[in-house]
Amino acid sequence: MFKTIRTKTLLGRASMAFPWLRLMVALGTAALASASHGATPVTLPASLPTLDGKPPLVIGHRGAAGYRPDHTLESYALAIRMGADFIEPDLVATKDGYLVARHEPNITATTDVARRPGFASRKTQRRIDGIVEEGWFATDFTLAELKTLRAIQPMVERDPSFNGQYPIPTLREILDLARSEGARGGRVIGVYVETKHPTFHEDVGLKLEDRLLAILAEYGHTRKDSPVILQSFETASLKYLRARTQLRLVQLIDGSDYDFKTGTVTLAAPFDRPYDWTRAGRQDLFSSMLTPAGLAEIAQYADGIGPWKPYIVPLKGNFDAAGKMIDLNQDGVADYADVASSAPTRVVADAHQAGLMVHAYTFRNEHRRLAFDYQGDPQAEYLQFYRLGVDGVFSDYTDTAVAARAAYLIETGR
Ligand code: G3P
Ligand code: CA
Repeated sequence: MFKTIRTKTLLGRASMAFPWLRLMVALGTAALASASHGATPVTLPASLPTLDGKPPLVIGHRGAAGYRPDHTLESYALAIRMGADFIEPDLVATKDGYLVARHEPNITATTDVARRPGFASRKTQRRIDGIVEEGWFATDFTLAELKTLRAIQPMVERDPSFNGQYPIPTLREILDLARSEGARGGRVIGVYVETKHPTFHEDVGLKLEDRLLAILAEYGHTRKDSPVILQSFETASLKYLRARTQLRLVQLIDGSDYDFKTGTVTLAAPFDRPYDWTRAGRQDLFSSMLTPAGLAEIAQYADGIGPWKPYIVPLKGNFDAAGKMIDLNQDGVADYADVASSAPTRVVADAHQAGLMVHAYTFRNEHRRLAFDYQGDPQAEYLQFYRLGVDGVFSDYTDTAVAARAAYLIETGR
């Protein structure tokens, strides 16, 4: 159930060209330098291929999750200092109705709760999106109790040295941080809030949306141009919000796993469709949202989509005559790091045609989370997506996303 365990990442077809980037950058820089001395006028492209023609946004996914335990003030602050345009908290509710940042109501993998004898009796089972999970759940703790816990890094390959140091932040603390860090850096820091498992929260009497809008209103975040975007996998949550706010809304579009033979995303519960659709008996899958009809439906209540990356650039492996995937990097395992990107889909173009922004997730630096044709260079993946016209990237490594964007802007003559 912890999606952090899944190797959701993607790959880049233009990445084979990336070794030439330095040369392209050098040539572009030389041309600009020449122009600045009056030799040749530079003609910039009219606009970038994003929906608004502006540079793509870098969204600090769970903060700077590659470097710090996710969803902590320290993780968000690091992302801001690395240049993120938005920081991204996932919201869950406490037993006493506070909104706090955690990836899941189940806090077992992201806090030290399992090592706290005082909370041993809180271990329980809860059904979330139809799946029974065991562990400790934020909805069984008051804010005061949660504040005694400390965050830990859930991904085993990442630096554990900050484990046990940082508390769980409330939404208000995150909004305060965005405001104070923005003032310090002289720029506006956006907050990109996800309502996490809204049906689950409603079932336990802790509906997220009204609480969320009330807090955002305290900070003056009520308008379409406010530095806030709201996102959810559940359509009903977004429609409820649409009826009550002008803030920008984004429909997240999930998948379960990859089929490296066909280059398609597989769909199985609980990642096959929004849980509110499951509850309502609607049989359509997440993939239906990416058809022109699906996008038109989303455009009725949202301003953008947040698709999993392989919906934009499919990933395929190479298979031998016996049907076995070839271990291209020869590390003894045929896995994600051995697949290559194939031709991009029409998702970005079709979404833009429907007037929807496209913010793709999740970009990560680890080599095992990079497809083979990026050749170990995470900037190559960003460049491919920037060139395709995505409007934003959810990144665990803000510094890499920002550096790749700088290269992209040079490449496009900016
Ligand atoms: O919010 C965008 C992306 O992060 C969705 O995946 O699992 O982090 O909520 P998740
Ligand atoms: Ca391999």
